[in-house]
Amino acid sequence: MADGLREAALAVREHAHAPYSAFKVGAAVRTTSGAVFAGCNVENVAYPEGTCAEAGAIAAMCAAGEREIAEVYVVAGSPTPVPPCGGCRQKLSEFAGPEVEVVMATVGGVETRTTVGALLPGMFTQAHMDGGT
Ligand code: THU
Repeated sequence: MADGLREAALAVREHAHAPYSAFKVGAAVRTTSGAVFAGCNVENVAYPEGTCAEAGAIAAMCAAGEREIAEVYVVAGSPTPVPPCGGCRQKLSEFAGPEVEVVMATVGGVETRTTVGALLPGMFTQAHMDGGT
């Protein structure tokens, strides 16, 4: 199911800019069109300005004019798979339904599978603003 996504995430991870954490992350998303977009974490000396790999993949997808994520793959060099941070869970939920699979993986090949909905229960959506002022 994740054909090509792992390879894309591993390849882009090599381009991560992570001089402060020394923790390289790669992410790849497949859209409903079948296209694959990848991103890596890009840190900054002003630490909060750094961006996660998932954010990079989402930006590449949007820049290409696509908006619907069908599958997500995240890979890091840790001993166990790394889950997307809270902010990235919200970012993914903007473009992926709760049923969309998220594969979290290690460089060594360990994989854990979950979904966007499981990662972000009770997510804030457009519907919460209905009837608001
Ligand atoms: N990081 C990601 O890029 N994605 C994740 O899912 C978890 C964390 C990055 C952010 C930062 O550059 C480094 O990992 C350490 O937190």
